[in-house]
Amino acid sequence: MSIEDAHIIDLPKIHDVRGNLSFVESGGHIPFDIKRSYWIYDVPGGQVRGGHAFKRQNEFIIALSGSFDVVITDGDNERTIQLNRSYYGLYVPKGIWRRMENFSTNSLAICLADTLYSPEDYIRDWDTFLKHKEG
Ligand code: TYD
Repeated sequence: MSIEDAHIIDLPKIHDVRGNLSFVESGGHIPFDIKRSYWIYDVPGGQVRGGHAFKRQNEFIIALSGSFDVVITDGDNERTIQLNRSYYGLYVPKGIWRRMENFSTNSLAICLADTLYSPEDYIRDWDTFLKHKEG
Protein backbone atom coordinates (compact mmCIF):
# COMPACT_ATOMS: atom_id res chain seq x y z
CA MET A 1 0.00 0.00 0.00
CA SER A 2 1.10 3.55 -0.64
CA ILE A 3 -0.12 6.65 1.17
CA GLU A 4 -1.95 7.54 -2.07
CA ASP A 5 -4.35 4.73 -1.15
CA ALA A 6 -5.39 6.65 1.96
CA HIS A 7 -7.92 9.38 1.26
CA ILE A 8 -10.56 11.64 2.72
CA ILE A 9 -14.14 10.48 2.29
CA ASP A 10 -16.96 13.01 2.62
CA LEU A 11 -20.05 11.84 4.47
CA PRO A 12 -23.63 12.97 4.06
CA LYS A 13 -24.47 16.13 5.98
CA ILE A 14 -28.12 16.76 6.67
CA HIS A 15 -28.46 20.45 7.49
CA ASP A 16 -31.19 21.23 9.96
CA VAL A 17 -31.99 24.29 12.05
CA ARG A 18 -32.25 21.86 14.98
CA GLY A 19 -28.67 20.74 14.41
CA ASN A 20 -26.88 18.89 11.64
CA LEU A 21 -26.71 15.13 11.21
CA SER A 22 -24.16 12.93 9.46
CA PHE A 23 -23.92 9.17 9.12
CA VAL A 24 -21.75 6.44 7.70
CA GLU A 25 -22.81 3.11 6.23
CA SER A 26 -20.70 0.09 5.35
CA GLY A 27 -20.18 -0.30 1.66
CA GLY A 28 -22.01 2.86 0.66
CA HIS A 29 -19.60 5.38 2.08
CA ILE A 30 -16.59 3.42 3.21
CA PRO A 31 -15.14 0.46 1.29
CA PHE A 32 -15.47 -2.17 4.01
CA ASP A 33 -17.90 -3.69 6.48
CA ILE A 34 -17.60 -2.24 9.97
CA LYS A 35 -16.84 -4.89 12.57
CA ARG A 36 -15.58 -2.71 15.41
CA SER A 37 -15.64 0.90 16.56
CA TYR A 38 -13.34 2.42 19.12
CA TRP A 39 -12.72 5.97 20.15
CA ILE A 40 -9.95 8.03 21.67
CA TYR A 41 -10.75 10.85 24.07
CA ASP A 42 -9.38 12.77 27.08
CA VAL A 43 -6.00 12.93 25.37
CA PRO A 44 -3.59 15.08 27.42
CA GLY A 45 -1.86 17.85 25.47
CA GLY A 46 1.16 16.70 23.48
CA GLN A 47 0.32 12.97 23.59
CA VAL A 48 0.61 10.75 20.52
CA ARG A 49 -1.57 7.69 19.84
CA GLY A 50 -1.06 4.95 17.30
CA GLY A 51 2.42 4.66 15.89
CA HIS A 52 1.96 1.32 14.17
CA ALA A 53 0.52 -0.36 11.09
CA PHE A 54 -2.01 -3.14 10.63
CA LYS A 55 -1.47 -6.25 8.54
CA ARG A 56 -5.15 -6.78 7.73
CA GLN A 57 -7.19 -3.98 9.25
CA ASN A 58 -8.65 -1.22 7.12
CA GLU A 59 -10.01 1.73 9.03
CA PHE A 60 -11.87 4.99 8.77
CA ILE A 61 -11.07 7.76 11.24
CA ILE A 62 -13.39 10.68 12.02
CA ALA A 63 -12.89 13.68 14.31
CA LEU A 64 -16.32 13.62 15.94
CA SER A 65 -15.26 16.60 18.03
CA GLY A 66 -12.27 18.93 18.04
CA SER A 67 -9.28 18.26 15.85
CA PHE A 68 -6.14 16.16 15.54
CA ASP A 69 -3.58 15.20 12.93
CA VAL A 70 -3.21 11.76 11.38
CA VAL A 71 0.32 11.21 10.11
CA ILE A 72 0.55 8.39 7.59
CA THR A 73 3.59 6.88 5.95
CA ASP A 74 4.26 3.96 3.65
CA GLY A 75 7.96 3.98 4.42
CA ASP A 76 8.80 6.17 1.41
CA ASN A 77 6.51 9.16 1.80
CA GLU A 78 4.77 10.81 4.73
CA ARG A 79 1.64 12.92 4.82
CA THR A 80 -0.13 14.77 7.62
CA ILE A 81 -3.89 15.11 7.40
CA GLN A 82 -5.74 17.28 9.86
CA LEU A 83 -9.21 16.07 10.77
CA ASN A 84 -11.45 18.73 12.28
CA ARG A 85 -15.03 18.16 11.10
CA SER A 86 -17.45 15.33 11.83
CA TYR A 87 -18.81 15.09 8.27
CA TYR A 88 -15.72 13.56 6.69
CA GLY A 89 -13.05 11.11 7.66
CA LEU A 90 -9.81 9.54 6.56
CA TYR A 91 -9.76 6.07 5.05
CA VAL A 92 -6.52 4.31 5.97
CA PRO A 93 -6.06 0.91 4.32
CA LYS A 94 -4.01 -1.89 5.83
CA GLY A 95 -0.26 -1.69 5.48
CA ILE A 96 0.07 2.03 6.22
CA TRP A 97 1.96 3.20 9.30
CA ARG A 98 -0.04 5.83 11.16
CA ARG A 99 0.02 7.91 14.27
CA MET A 100 -2.36 10.52 15.68
CA GLU A 101 -1.16 13.70 17.34
CA ASN A 102 -1.93 17.38 18.05
CA PHE A 103 -5.20 16.52 19.74
CA SER A 104 -7.17 19.61 20.66
CA THR A 105 -8.80 19.92 24.07
CA ASN A 106 -11.94 17.76 24.24
CA SER A 107 -11.27 16.14 20.87
CA LEU A 108 -12.95 12.85 20.12
CA ALA A 109 -11.57 10.47 17.48
CA ILE A 110 -13.62 7.51 16.35
CA CYS A 111 -12.03 4.67 14.37
CA LEU A 112 -14.26 2.31 12.41
CA ALA A 113 -12.50 -0.93 11.54
CA ASP A 114 -13.21 -4.07 9.54
CA THR A 115 -11.59 -6.45 12.04
CA LEU A 116 -12.13 -7.43 15.63
CA TYR A 117 -9.31 -6.47 17.96
CA SER A 118 -6.31 -8.68 17.38
CA PRO A 119 -2.87 -7.92 18.85
CA GLU A 120 -1.33 -10.14 16.13
CA ASP A 121 -2.57 -7.74 13.48
CA TYR A 122 -0.35 -4.92 14.78
CA ILE A 123 3.09 -4.10 13.37
CA ARG A 124 4.68 -1.96 16.06
CA ASP A 125 8.30 -2.18 14.96
CA TRP A 126 9.47 0.11 12.16
CA ASP A 127 12.00 -2.31 10.66
CA THR A 128 9.42 -5.10 10.69
CA PHE A 129 7.05 -2.73 8.90
CA LEU A 130 9.58 -2.01 6.16
CA LYS A 131 10.24 -5.74 5.70
CA HIS A 132 6.50 -6.52 5.65
CA LYS A 133 6.01 -3.83 3.01
CA GLU A 134 8.63 -5.40 0.76
CA GLY A 135 6.64 -8.62 1.03
P1 TYD B 1 -3.69 0.50 20.87
O1 TYD B 1 -4.42 0.22 19.59
O2 TYD B 1 -2.38 -0.21 21.07
O3 TYD B 1 -3.52 2.06 21.03
P2 TYD B 1 -2.28 2.96 20.56
O4 TYD B 1 -1.89 2.46 19.24
O5 TYD B 1 -2.79 4.36 20.54
O6 TYD B 1 -1.22 2.75 21.58
O7 TYD B 1 -4.65 0.16 22.07
C1 TYD B 1 -4.31 0.46 23.40
C2 TYD B 1 -4.78 -0.66 24.31
O8 TYD B 1 -6.18 -0.85 24.19
C3 TYD B 1 -4.12 -1.99 24.01
O9 TYD B 1 -3.65 -2.52 25.22
C4 TYD B 1 -5.20 -2.88 23.50
C5 TYD B 1 -6.48 -2.21 23.92
N1 TYD B 1 -7.51 -2.29 22.87
C6 TYD B 1 -8.49 -3.25 22.94
O10 TYD B 1 -8.52 -4.06 23.88
N2 TYD B 1 -9.45 -3.31 21.96
C7 TYD B 1 -9.44 -2.45 20.91
O11 TYD B 1 -10.33 -2.52 20.02
C8 TYD B 1 -8.40 -1.46 20.82
C9 TYD B 1 -8.31 -0.50 19.67
C10 TYD B 1 -7.45 -1.42 21.82
